[in-house]
Amino acid sequence: MAIAVDDIVARCRAALDEHSPVLAVRDVLAELVADPAALERAVGPVEEGGITPLHNSGELTVLRVAWTPGMVLNPHEHRMWAAIAMYGGQEDNAFYRRAPQGLEQSGGKEVTAGDVLVLGDDVIHSVANSRTEFAVALHVYGGDFFNGERSEWDLETFTERPRDLERTLRLFAEANERWRAASDQA
Ligand SMILES: [Fe+2]
Repeated sequence: MAIAVDDIVARCRAALDEHSPVLAVRDVLAELVADPAALERAVGPVEEGGITPLHNSGELTVLRVAWTPGMVLNPHEHRMWAAIAMYGGQEDNAFYRRAPQGLEQSGGKEVTAGDVLVLGDDVIHSVANSRTEFAVALHVYGGDFFNGERSEWDLETFTERPRDLERTLRLFAEANERWRAASDQA
């Protein structure tokens, strides 16, 4: 079945009018990841790791996120619900709680292609791609992902600091460089 980015966004927008928007979005995403080839045709192939915005408004953000092999993103919060719909590879999610020393770990979840992971407003997580292929997903957020105050935490010290998207983008760039260098050697 042929789909386009506009269809994906329209279906997510329509889900916002449902009684439980996040569960309605989850259902939309579960249908979409059942056909990963159609999703890839709609969004385009992954050339390198990064964040590709497909839609951004005050109520809804839809991103295609591709995690480079070996990449780890430090703990962060969204302060809005999120649904992560994997359609390639695997994301290793680790969850955290606030603690006197910054954070304490509280479990994890490996999300593989075909899975949809729903995250509540107050979730703090880190994400890693421990595989040798890209981890590719649609990330849908119940608000404006790019604007607003949020926290992130240092990966090693768990020190809290304001979220820094520039820093996150640099992590992608560095991971892509390492991956390219390793691919050239192979
Ligand atoms: Fe996240």
